[in-house]
Amino acid sequence: MDEKTLAALVGRIRSLPAMPATAARLLPLLSDPAADTRRIEEVLRYDPGLTADLLKLTNSAYFGLPARVGSVRQAVLLLGWKRLLRLVMTLSVSGLMREPLAGYDLPRGGLWRHSVAVSVAADRLIAHLDIPGGDAVFTAALLHDVGKLVLGRFVREELGRIEALVAKGLSFDVAETVVLGVNHAAVGGKVLEAWSLPPELVRAVRLHHEPESCEGSCLVSDIVHVANAVGGRLEAEARGAAPPEASAEALERLGLDPAGLEEVARQTRGELERFAEAI
Ligand SMILES: [Fe+2]
Ligand SMILES: [Fe+2]
Repeated sequence: MDEKTLAALVGRIRSLPAMPATAARLLPLLSDPAADTRRIEEVLRYDPGLTADLLKLTNSAYFGLPARVGSVRQAVLLLGWKRLLRLVMTLSVSGLMREPLAGYDLPRGGLWRHSVAVSVAADRLIAHLDIPGGDAVFTAALLHDVGKLVLGRFVREELGRIEALVAKGLSFDVAETVVLGVNHAAVGGKVLEAWSLPPELVRAVRLHHEPESCEGSCLVSDIVHVANAVGGRLEAEARGAAPPEASAEALERLGLDPAGLEEVARQTRGELERFAEAI
């Protein structure tokens, strides 16, 4: 990479994407035990497009609710506000993640679909392992590849060199680091830092391709790593490509055996099929 491109890259990294306004207002509510319906309604009042999408999804077969939902208040009553908040978070980042990213082989909407798959897998993992407090994990999983929005252009420019290294056996994220000096996981960590998200989430995003580098409490980063592998596996299945492997170290720390991983993948596949039908 020449100096000019590198300078441009550094300049670009200084101007990180902004968190969607609705997501920024909702995130603190996810971890606030005092949050209630009224506050969710207040946030959504400023985003009628999102509210319409939310009500459409709430009324879809995905939720199979007994009554037709016509208001945010009703949706909260029927789904529970935690479930509703996650749904709103998922919908609110779809605009941010919509653009195609050719360097990463992601068509329009591809990054969002992958992020949804990984957040669903993370949710299933938490349920399977019976771990409490899934909100941090959900957010980290949904945002884990946000660094791709920043690096996409540079990866596309240097794709030939990156792919040559991948052909030699390097993983894509390591090849990114060799060619660009940084990879999307590290940049994603920077984005989450700029968004003032908790250090635990920043670390989980930064380490999602290298759980071996984790020290101390690795639970969130291990779950995001394994969920990313599950999401990647389902995508590989659909394309008839070789599936990515989850790190043996992360699986061992989580206490997840191959049968458990299989079960999580099966549940994730089922849930995603239903979700895809609904939207
Ligand atoms: Fe990634
Ligand atoms: Fe990913």
